[in-house]
Amino acid sequence: MADAETVTFPQNRTCPYNPPTAYRSEHRGPQPVSPARLFDGRTVWLVTGHAEARSLLADQRLSSDRENPAFPILAERLAASTLRRVALLGADDPEHNVQRRMLIPSFTVRRTASLRPQIRATVDRLLDAMVKQGPPADLVDSFALPVPSMVICALLGVPYDDHEFFEAQSRKLLRGPAAADVESARDALDEYFRVLIEQKQAAPGEGLLDELIAKHLETGDVDQQELVRMAQILLIAGHETTANMISLGTFTLLQHPDQLARMRESDGLMPSAVEELLRFLSIADAISRVAVDDIEVGGVTIRAGDGVLLTTSVINRDEAVYASPDELDLGRNARNHVAFGFGIHQCLGQNLARAELEIALPALFDRLPELRLAVPAEEVPFKPGDTLQGLLEMPVTW
Ligand code: HEM
Repeated sequence: MADAETVTFPQNRTCPYNPPTAYRSEHRGPQPVSPARLFDGRTVWLVTGHAEARSLLADQRLSSDRENPAFPILAERLAASTLRRVALLGADDPEHNVQRRMLIPSFTVRRTASLRPQIRATVDRLLDAMVKQGPPADLVDSFALPVPSMVICALLGVPYDDHEFFEAQSRKLLRGPAAADVESARDALDEYFRVLIEQKQAAPGEGLLDELIAKHLETGDVDQQELVRMAQILLIAGHETTANMISLGTFTLLQHPDQLARMRESDGLMPSAVEELLRFLSIADAISRVAVDDIEVGGVTIRAGDGVLLTTSVINRDEAVYASPDELDLGRNARNHVAFGFGIHQCLGQNLARAELEIALPALFDRLPELRLAVPAEEVPFKPGDTLQGLLEMPVTW
């Protein structure tokens, strides 16, 4: 399927909130599904069309099983990952459905709404600390990362005192740099949750993990290893993603002062502003799958065993769905974006993420109305293309 025009994937963004230009099909003709070449020379399918993406993400002929040797990986350091099982994200139905159903009650709109006062209190506490400390600050360390970390710890019943440990392990797991870092981080997190679950069995506390132990571990619905894997996914997905959205969202608003002013003028704009930021930033830029049967889509045939990468940053800028897609417009209806995925794996924590963003972003600018970058925008370091997109640090002053 590859030819000289084949794009290599992944590529680094040149601007932290825009997709790499090479991902876009304009220069290759309007192809919603086209070949791409991975770091190891393997050719996979790159999906950039919105309609094709939604149809594929709803198609059970695409598998999320990372243990399948044909599953596409984005970097050398992740090669050994195919030897390990991943809960939820890496499971197909019916196994996936069994795990997901245990968690759904804790992530409903209603349950998440009940967490809002606690999220608000966490945000206020962190802003108090920033004000007390005075400028300058690294917004990632002092706000964007601790907000979701504290919230997911409270939800799961994981002690926040351990945050330096698990944040460091999550960083290694997602970004290495070496394969050995990824593997040691997984081992360390496995061991951490094994011990925590045993402690909780001896002395139950409050939180989702305690509930899962009582309702599903002790009744034999899951074994300890599966619960460890579920806890790992919840903890990592619960903090790394939203942290990237808060830092990159703040950066993007500072770069679009007209939109920032709009947001500050109207609280009522927040729900649509958050959807638009999710669409515009598309921080989970490569949703990966492997085909287990042949699929005709977008004028091509995906064969069983082919890898498929759905690149959300381009899908979410499909002109057939969004007018002027490269413009940030906080008032537009962006609700059908695929920043949270689509189909059976659509983000379990999306209501929680929305609540955190709707509270954290306006509170930050209300409390620090003079907030601005402390360095030129071009000097703010951001993450490479083979992982979740976001800022490595964000020096700010006010
Ligand atoms: C703005 C922040 C977030 C973004 C952009 C995001 C994005 C995504 C995406 C794209 C997927 C689908 C992956 C796939 O189909 O392979 C996903 C799944 C998932 N997310 Fe999120 N996520 C965010 C926040 C959260 C939070 C706060 C949690 C809290 C626990 C969470 C938990 C999960 C879980 C457990 C899954 C797997 C669901 C399944 O396989 O059934 N996410 N997320």
